[in-house]
Amino acid sequence: MCGIVGYTGVQGASPILLEGLKKLEYRGYDSAGIALVNEGVISIAKVTGRIANLCEKTNDGKDYPGTCGIGHTRWATHGAPSDNNAHPHLSNDGRFAIVHNGIIENYMSLHDELTAKGYHFESQTDTEVIVHLLEMYYKGDIKKAVIKTIARLQGSYALGVICTEHPDKLYVAREASPLILGVGVSENFFASDVTALVSYTRNAIYLEDGEFAEISPEEINVFDCTLKPIEKKITRIVWDIKASEKGGYEHFMLKEIMEQPRAFKATIAPRIKDNDIVLDETELTKEYLESVNKIVITACGSAYYAGCAAKYTIEKLCRVPVITELASELRYCDPLIDEHTLLIVLSQSGETADTIAAMKECKSKGAKTIAVVNVVGSTIATLADHALYTWAGPEIAVATTKGFTTQLAVLYLFALYAAKKLNNIDEERYLSLLSSLKSMPKKIQETLDTNSNIHKIAIKYYDNKSMFFIGRNTDYAIALEGALKMKEISYIHAESYAAGELKHGTIALIEEHRPVVALCCNESVMEKTVSNIVEVKARGADVLALTFKGNSKIVSVANDVIYVPKVETFFSAAVEIVPLQLLAYYVAKLNECDIDKPKNLAKSVTVE
Ligand code: G6P
Repeated sequence: MCGIVGYTGVQGASPILLEGLKKLEYRGYDSAGIALVNEGVISIAKVTGRIANLCEKTNDGKDYPGTCGIGHTRWATHGAPSDNNAHPHLSNDGRFAIVHNGIIENYMSLHDELTAKGYHFESQTDTEVIVHLLEMYYKGDIKKAVIKTIARLQGSYALGVICTEHPDKLYVAREASPLILGVGVSENFFASDVTALVSYTRNAIYLEDGEFAEISPEEINVFDCTLKPIEKKITRIVWDIKASEKGGYEHFMLKEIMEQPRAFKATIAPRIKDNDIVLDETELTKEYLESVNKIVITACGSAYYAGCAAKYTIEKLCRVPVITELASELRYCDPLIDEHTLLIVLSQSGETADTIAAMKECKSKGAKTIAVVNVVGSTIATLADHALYTWAGPEIAVATTKGFTTQLAVLYLFALYAAKKLNNIDEERYLSLLSSLKSMPKKIQETLDTNSNIHKIAIKYYDNKSMFFIGRNTDYAIALEGALKMKEISYIHAESYAAGELKHGTIALIEEHRPVVALCCNESVMEKTVSNIVEVKARGADVLALTFKGNSKIVSVANDVIYVPKVETFFSAAVEIVPLQLLAYYVAKLNECDIDKPKNLAKSVTVE
């Protein structure tokens, strides 16, 4: 989704802004632009399409001199992708230019008010009202103008402003949209995520909602909405720069799939000490856990499916009801939540708008919240009572892979931890499950090795308009995520159904050679799923079964079989998803899709 960057310092700003925007490309965008202040004038370059077009238009920034500027990648919400709608936007008097992430919900009334006062609009965006408000409120004091402007805005924003009268300064403000300031030497930066900053500085200030900052090359001053100064601490960014590069792989997605054994290990290993699970600073005492009468897991997209898969493990081990609910639904359903509810929020980015809103709603009703998040310092991590980080490192491909498996890793740790605290598991079983969990990175590696030729299976299935994924229990949860991976990156219609539901409608869609991916790793429901395979085969489907090594029952009923190593059923989702990620990857590759940046999708969905 939209990305913003800003630079002020002693170097030419344009190349730095373009480089920063390239780092934000992964978030998904459809147009881009930069604005520089130079010799009392603001110059703006905007393009529809890729950053490469912007580099060409600006001669790699050389034609846009100046040491202070802002940049933006836009993911259209209000108004189609076009040069006019691309940011930065300029005030009518040419004094201000702004970039904005988020949505201004009251932009229509502001638009009417400003039009009536004679301001002229160049775009169809909600954003443009901001720059005209700035012009309207500017009476010689820019800080006051920004404060008055943001007081009029309803919705979400991460805002970057430049002004001809303060040619070396950036002004930024944040409300419900991420904004990070990069602290350098004789230069400072801002960006919507750390990937745009790490090549230049590892010192960051995380701005919080309602905060506003004035940034010059030498200093950063942060204020609240009454212009009272706020002391901010500088946080060290620990991400490895190499981790945000492709490292020899053709796509980030393939690299990230391959990184899963390491990411899973990095997530669990530091939390297992002498057979005890240590969940960072969470104070999940026995007394507290005994007071919990239900666990609600909420998230969006793949993170939601990670919750669906882990629900079975948590519920069975802890004997506490686990309810999974999409964040976009939970936020509006007046949920039955109180202080006896433990809310687990899953989010790779930590910035998903619906997830944040659902979390706030549940917190307001008294739930204690645990956030399972990959991005350190993100909004969800900050809002939660306890943040449990997934140590997956930066995930760049829009379709999540290692983000998903590491979410499972944390939830498995939590399940074992809570089961032990609640005395629901005897020591022998606990130690045996812990040992299985510790072996999972190896098992994921084995899954990758076993499926190194999955592209051959992809050749058989890639040329299809529609596919079905079926399974039961955890197999069903992974069928959901497998189908999502397929549609996200290959654009093939892929639907997942609980295998037992086939007869209630879906079987009508089964026809000659329709691919059905059948997940059969859960032994307790194996026979049932095999029956469903036979039923779809009888109607002409081509069945691609996924099961554990040594399961001979499937060979005779399926057309093709993908194998994963046999692991403890509680944790099997983390191996089952891996070949499905690879299958989606190779199907998308054969269909010549833009794998890392699928059309219309965004990595971080920061608007509703
Ligand atoms: C987008 C991404 C998905 C992700 C979902 C939730 O749709 O493309 O990969 O699962 O958002 O994002 P989160 O950052 O909250 O996990």
